[in-house]
Amino acid sequence: MTLEDLARVLDIDRLSFPLPWPERTYRYELMENSAARLLVAQDPSVQGESVVGYIGYWLIVDEAHISTIAVHPDFRRQGIAEEMLRSALWDAAARGAELATLEVRPSNAAAIALYRKYAFDVAGRRTRYYRDNDEDAWIMSLNDLLGHVRQWMPPA
Ligand SMILES: CC(C)(COP(=O)(O)OP(=O)(O)OC[C@H]1O[C@@H](n2cnc3c(N)ncnc32)[C@H](O)[C@@H]1OP(=O)(O)O)[C@@H](O)C(=O)NCCC(=O)NCCS
Repeated sequence: MTLEDLARVLDIDRLSFPLPWPERTYRYELMENSAARLLVAQDPSVQGESVVGYIGYWLIVDEAHISTIAVHPDFRRQGIAEEMLRSALWDAAARGAELATLEVRPSNAAAIALYRKYAFDVAGRRTRYYRDNDEDAWIMSLNDLLGHVRQWMPPA
């Protein structure tokens, strides 16, 4: 992701999350947070705004913490999130991550199905984590990251 992608990313964020990140958060992540990595998925057949999804993670010592993932509603159920997740986890493993973690709303069946497909398990809960509705967060984690990514096709 670059600053040029921001307008489109912010559109997708607003369409995807009850609590979208403000623009300043993306700017901080892109320009100042050395632990942050943000990747976009682009569809070359789309005229103009070709970004159709994005994923972020923070590399904290040996842990890759997925900070965000979203796909534009018009492009869902085409395997884009899956490809982005594999790419981010490959990238993180190559940079020394040994496990991956994330937070997800227990009501977010689509995201939970995605993470379970990639062998994430529920490892804990943060009580009343989400400010909009006081929903808890599940913490999901994937241990032995390298062992898992070796089984997946390398990203294109
Ligand atoms: C969750 C999200 C990123 C999935 O993106 P996507 O590109 O549509 O997902 P994919 O097509 O790669 O699907 C991969 C797997 O995820 C699961 N999945 C995705 N959407 C699903 C849905 N609506 N219902 C059930 N399972 C779903 C399935 O296991 C699917 O594998 P399958 O096709 O073999 O069944 C997308 O729905 C989204 O942007 N949601 C809003 C933002 C969000 O909730 N992010 C997660 C925050 S924790």
